[in-house]
Amino acid sequence: MLHNIPEPVRKRMNFLEKIDKEDRVDGTPRMQRLRQIPPETGKFLSIIAASAPKGRFIEIGTSAGYSTMWIALACMERGNKMKTFEILKEKIKLAKETFQQSKLEKYIDLVEGDARDYLKGEKGISFCFLDAKKEVYEDCYDLVVPNMVKGGLLVADNAINLYDTLKPMIDKTLIDRRVDALIVPIGKGELVCRKI
Ligand SMILES: C[S@@+](CC[C@H](N)C(=O)[O-])C[C@H]1O[C@@H](n2cnc3c(N)ncnc32)[C@H](O)[C@@H]1O
Repeated sequence: MLHNIPEPVRKRMNFLEKIDKEDRVDGTPRMQRLRQIPPETGKFLSIIAASAPKGRFIEIGTSAGYSTMWIALACMERGNKMKTFEILKEKIKLAKETFQQSKLEKYIDLVEGDARDYLKGEKGISFCFLDAKKEVYEDCYDLVVPNMVKGGLLVADNAINLYDTLKPMIDKTLIDRRVDALIVPIGKGELVCRKI
């Protein structure tokens, strides 16, 4: 999977990595920035998603679709689709461009809107990547966990760099008897929860 990343995917990844890097130093306003995961977190997501049990894949917080491409590599390997949710119009436009240029469209359904309006209906989730506004993490967690299959995996970004903001949500997951959870020190810190 990681040894054979298709050329159109690699090309779009390189392009978005360059924009994201520039965004962080050129004064681009926060809301306009891509704020995407680093490549090592992408590889981690590919491997974790590829190892998830049978079920649906979702992502909350698409931005320009960089992390989506890493998860979609696992979809290619497994032959399943994923659904990704994004609320901002400008990001939706970029994500559509990403999925078209990377030729990954057939593996990805992009849902335009607030993920919280849809999550109740998303049953049988075996993999979820949570990377939206930090204020909605707990709501999303509460909506996703009851819909996860046994052994399903939920990965939430920014568990270390935004630990103080996310502490109430992280503490809740660590004592939640429905999941086994821990923080993995990769990228910005990934909270990994496995449904029991
Ligand atoms: C940190 S960025 C996601 C980066 C992306 N996962 C990546 O690594 O390439 C967070 C994104 O979540 C979106 N977002 C925030 N709250 C949301 C919500 N309730 N539903 C859907 N998308 C949301 C934001 O508009 C933003 O584009």
